[in-house]
Amino acid sequence: MIIAIDGPAAAGKGTLARHLAETFDFAHLDTGAIYRATAKKVLDLGIDMGDEAACTEAARQLQPADLLADGLRDEAVGQAASKVSAIPGVRAALLDFQRDFAKTPPDGKLGAVLDGRDVGTVVCPDADVKLFITASAEERARRRHKELQDGGQNAIYARVLEEMKERDARDQSRSVAPLKPADDAVIIDTSALDADAAFEKALETVRAKRP
Ligand code: DC
Repeated sequence: MIIAIDGPAAAGKGTLARHLAETFDFAHLDTGAIYRATAKKVLDLGIDMGDEAACTEAARQLQPADLLADGLRDEAVGQAASKVSAIPGVRAALLDFQRDFAKTPPDGKLGAVLDGRDVGTVVCPDADVKLFITASAEERARRRHKELQDGGQNAIYARVLEEMKERDARDQSRSVAPLKPADDAVIIDTSALDADAAFEKALETVRAKRP
């Protein structure tokens, strides 16, 4: 069984994906981490993000250990990931890995939960369950701001909101695999839901589809 979870940054899809994977004992892949790891490589190697061939080569060279690199969750890496992920060659280089994971989940698991931007639309268009998790930009910026402050970073809310909107616009407007709900996705708006309430709603959808 494949569960595809898409949505914009800080909508709560990662937490939800982990929780669903634990509940059903499925494998979980945070596809954003692959783009973040590629972006981190590009930044560390000093590659120009406008150099599409060099960015594509960095994506091709990605190793599993790169997904464990320090600083992948940093805001600067997230913004860079949003930029490199708009390069068609980068997306193509990372597609097979994601599809293989979904089709043959590691450790003999009977299902996979993948979360990202284009899982239901491009990576796994035949997924059994498709969820699109969203929330208002203001609420997502509030959550990200709190996360940064809790982590000891001195973030300014207005700046976090501005960056959130910038990233949404870039992810939604790119020509390849833009962020959008699949036609058959169930949309869950978490603006007024906590993680448990969002999980309950998602669970209802998965249970309805599970044989
Ligand atoms: O979900 P995240 O914040 O870790 O993702 C970082 C960036 O990676 C996001 O802004 C766009 C890109 N991304 C993508 O293009 N496709 C995916 N399936 C996942 C992430």
